[in-house]
Amino acid sequence: MTTITADAAATVARCLAARQPSPATMTIFGAGGDLTKRLIMPALYNLVRANRLPDEFAIIGFDHNDQTTDAWRQNLTETMHTFARAGKGEAIDEQAWSWLVGRMQYMRGDFTQPDSFSQLGKLLAEQQKRQNGTANVLFYLAVADRFFAPVIEQLGRAGLTRQSEGAWRRVIVEKPFGHDFASAEALNARILKVLSEDQVYRIDHFLGKETVQNILVLRFANGIFEPLWNRDHVDHIQITAAETVGVETRGRFYEQTGALRDMVPNHLFQLLAMIGMEPPISFDADAVRAKKTELFQAVHPISPDDAVRGQYGAGVILGQKVRGYRQEPNVAPESTTETYVALKLGIDNWRWAGVPFYLRTGKHLSARTTEIAVQFRQAPYALFRETPVERLPANILTLRIQPDEGLSFSFSAKRPGPEIEIDGVDMDFAYRDYFAPLASVGYETLIYDCMIGDATLFQRADTVEAAWCAVQGLLDAWARTPPTDFPNYAAGSAGPEAADHLLARDKRAWLPIKADHTHGQHSG
Ligand code: BG6
Repeated sequence: MTTITADAAATVARCLAARQPSPATMTIFGAGGDLTKRLIMPALYNLVRANRLPDEFAIIGFDHNDQTTDAWRQNLTETMHTFARAGKGEAIDEQAWSWLVGRMQYMRGDFTQPDSFSQLGKLLAEQQKRQNGTANVLFYLAVADRFFAPVIEQLGRAGLTRQSEGAWRRVIVEKPFGHDFASAEALNARILKVLSEDQVYRIDHFLGKETVQNILVLRFANGIFEPLWNRDHVDHIQITAAETVGVETRGRFYEQTGALRDMVPNHLFQLLAMIGMEPPISFDADAVRAKKTELFQAVHPISPDDAVRGQYGAGVILGQKVRGYRQEPNVAPESTTETYVALKLGIDNWRWAGVPFYLRTGKHLSARTTEIAVQFRQAPYALFRETPVERLPANILTLRIQPDEGLSFSFSAKRPGPEIEIDGVDMDFAYRDYFAPLASVGYETLIYDCMIGDATLFQRADTVEAAWCAVQGLLDAWARTPPTDFPNYAAGSAGPEAADHLLARDKRAWLPIKADHTHGQHSG
């Protein structure tokens, strides 16, 4: 029988307690906004259903609209019903939802007015009395990025960021965190005048995706991959985030942003980090984030010759005719904003020297898929010289991030028959075959982790800056030379032809963008 010493039992109890959120009040700035409706509230509701929130939990919704707590609750309830119907058509769990609704309070306030923050301070103090004197507060900045620093400064001025025993104060900052290196650095400087780094939780929602988190487990909890994970065995890596949606109603935002800023130094770099970083010494937040930062710092400056930009013209997506980007609402008729980017990246470190990382992302492409494909070096062909085999299919490990979460491995197999003929075949693992799907909008883990003080899945100041720094040269080069060939890909296609040339010149090719994810390369 295994016995457990009192010391070990105490350690286990401490660890378990650390994973249990303590009583807290969540204050959402931007309580009337889209993010609150679409993601934060559904995520909190899923956390209630999974029994992950403390009993002493409260929400203060802060926004500039004049509305009552009842009206706010009602509005959110209607949205929850609509999303639930649009999703799996399930009715919402009324008990869980009323648990949450009963804890919500609305406050009208101005993001830049000191009075609003003193009033918030009073509400928080009342809450503290109800929560047996604990005064933990999670401030969630679900506001336009221009308000990030002003809100934090107001919180600081009102004394609401001060921590003490039984009173942690943490702030979740949404995307976009800056629009280039200088603005990200300036924003960090303003924030860090008020908060210490361990109070800041910079979100990149890609890190909330189960499959992204699983990349580290795949790499480090399986003995077979790590020995192959380097320049001796890997030929190249492709990272794709293809979307079928266009810019929809976000023309105004997108015109100022473009695909490079919107997706690369943040979401695609999270995938790059997970797949390329060195093993951390533990899953401790700083150990992981240090390795990610080092990887971004090792990204070789990107030459414009290694980058392709594109903009969609009119086309057909999933059987529907769609307009071109320049015809979208709030988009300039001669807009030169890119809706597609493809890049070849080099990583200057011992592990990856000479191994290209090809990244691409775009709107209105032929299928929605986010995946990473690790293509291994060819086996020597010599042995097959005297056979009908003309080429050996590549070994590709594909990590499917979304929508059809899973992993597949393509390898060569002999086709049955007297001759030696080879086909590419796939071994496939789909999450849904092994695990019951979790009700998730992708923000549950992030909110929960912030409540327990685990910052592993959040961005540290130096990590964000290193990522911007890696793309800054390209942002500048593109700003100096506006494109002359836009639109250069049809909506519903795989992107501009120039992106194919980017790989063809290295005698490589993109894997097809398709909803069915296997990459078996059948020879006939
Ligand atoms: C957002 C971008 O951060 O991420 C959007 O602003 C993009 O343009 C979205 O569509 C992609 O996220 P997901 O989770 O839908 O792949």
